[in-house]
Amino acid sequence: MARTGTDVLVIGGGIIGLGLAWRAAQRGLAVTVVDPAPGGGAAQVAAGMLAPVTELQYGEEPLLRLGMASNERYAAFAAELTEASGLDTGYRQTGTLAVALDSDDREELRELHRFHQRLGLASQWLTGRECRKLEPMLAPGVRGGLHVSDDHQVDGRRLCRALVEACTRAGVGFHRTSAAELLLTDGRASGVRLEDGGQLTADQIVLAAGPHSHLLPGLPEGVLPAIRPVKGQILRLRIPASYAPFLSRNVRAVVRGQHIYLVPRADGELVIGATSEEQGYDTTVTAGGVYELLRDAHELVPGLTELPLVETSAGLRPGSPDNAPLLGPTALPGLVAATGHYRNGVLLTPVTADLLAEYLTTGVTPELAAPFSPSRFSSKVAA
Ligand code: GLY
Repeated sequence: MARTGTDVLVIGGGIIGLGLAWRAAQRGLAVTVVDPAPGGGAAQVAAGMLAPVTELQYGEEPLLRLGMASNERYAAFAAELTEASGLDTGYRQTGTLAVALDSDDREELRELHRFHQRLGLASQWLTGRECRKLEPMLAPGVRGGLHVSDDHQVDGRRLCRALVEACTRAGVGFHRTSAAELLLTDGRASGVRLEDGGQLTADQIVLAAGPHSHLLPGLPEGVLPAIRPVKGQILRLRIPASYAPFLSRNVRAVVRGQHIYLVPRADGELVIGATSEEQGYDTTVTAGGVYELLRDAHELVPGLTELPLVETSAGLRPGSPDNAPLLGPTALPGLVAATGHYRNGVLLTPVTADLLAEYLTTGVTPELAAPFSPSRFSSKVAA
């Protein structure tokens, strides 16, 4: 049986695993990624809205700090990635407009605005008329909105392609198979047995397998909590060149209690998301999901039903018990977590990559990662 050793073994080559593999390799570590299809996962489906301010929930201030830190790094991260890979990431500084369609929505948005003000976040209240002046395709009934000039967008698919290329150029090794079992030596994570029969050993193993992270055979009980899959269905429409500019920035709203967002890309793609469904690992696109997305998006921007619908898809967000990520060493020596990013995987990629690379090279958990220690969920580990 072939055995090879490496400094860092990353289980899961989705956007999170790739980002940290690239950063760790840049710091001189020998890194290997195990994934049957690197660059796959939820980022292939995600709209790529970078929205720490407009997606802010009450009680999530530590997550806001992490999201803001990642958002601030995005422009430089995307530019460096393009330089390293020769590929564009679709990062665009568009800003986001969150609008209200009725008086209840307007009150809710006003409350969110007050919350933003208390936290000192840049967010501007606009009347319905001012919203439509920014985005003339909005429904005439829009009652008001919040303009957040720092919530931007990136194309998750382009980002993944660029990360695979940058990792390859930085010397990251890829094993295009699944991890079949975590191997332990003297109570320490020491390697994995692979689905294809091989075996890899490593000084440090990073578990970055999204909603599959806790399911790795051999993982001792109590090390990781269950990471629940939260399905999101999403639509891709195409804006013909003759319709441009259809929308100039991300537009979002809450319609009948459901979040809906529209992300217009520079290449004419318009992404509409997303459902939020907790029903296991199923990724079927349903007629009901497509209907609800189109119905709600149509209330926001009636003209979009004229556009060609080019793709429907569904992905799984990895939700931890408190919906915040798990970043850093686990209770099992040698095993590090980078998972549970829930609705924020694309946003949190740059900061996760930096924090994990710092931990992997220094053995010290950076202060920004401390609130997200996996140990907040650990019970006694039976290794
Ligand atoms: N961040 C958007 C979503 O998860 O739907």
